[in-house]
Amino acid sequence: KPNRRDFILTATTAAGAVGVGAAVWPLVDQMNPDASVKALASTEVDISSVQPGQSITVIWRGKPVFIKRRTQDEINSARAVDLSELKHPEKDEDRAKNPEWLVMLGVCTHLGCVPLTDKGDYNAWFCPCHGSHYDTSGRIRKGPAPTNMEVPKYEFVNSNTIKIG
Ligand code: FES
Repeated sequence: KPNRRDFILTATTAAGAVGVGAAVWPLVDQMNPDASVKALASTEVDISSVQPGQSITVIWRGKPVFIKRRTQDEINSARAVDLSELKHPEKDEDRAKNPEWLVMLGVCTHLGCVPLTDKGDYNAWFCPCHGSHYDTSGRIRKGPAPTNMEVPKYEFVNSNTIKIG
């Protein structure tokens, strides 16, 4: 029969489920165009189901944010680049503090289109509007965009959650 110990376990599980719902809600809410009052809010994203090589897009402050879980090959190619080859020299180590996770605004720095993922000369991001190619660190490598895709302020709340903003 259920004893007090079972009850405590059940209550804890239920609280965990509520926590997940609360973290997802702001995302849905910000997709609503009327939610301008939420514009300054930070967003917590559950990344536990993102597989290596996969990328997800979330909306934060009305803009797409790419969250990419990079494979070891993608990390290696980002970190092997000589900075002198770059139009906008930034070390991958400074863009992705946890090498497995790249978090950046999914906005082309040329005229603001949303680049396509896993495309282009670097098999990373490609902006079809005027042909900007970005590498596996989101750095501009070819085409008219002047700068790398922007890395927003973010932190790991825990190993499954990124807080953007
Ligand atoms: Fe991306 Fe022009 S907006 S290349």
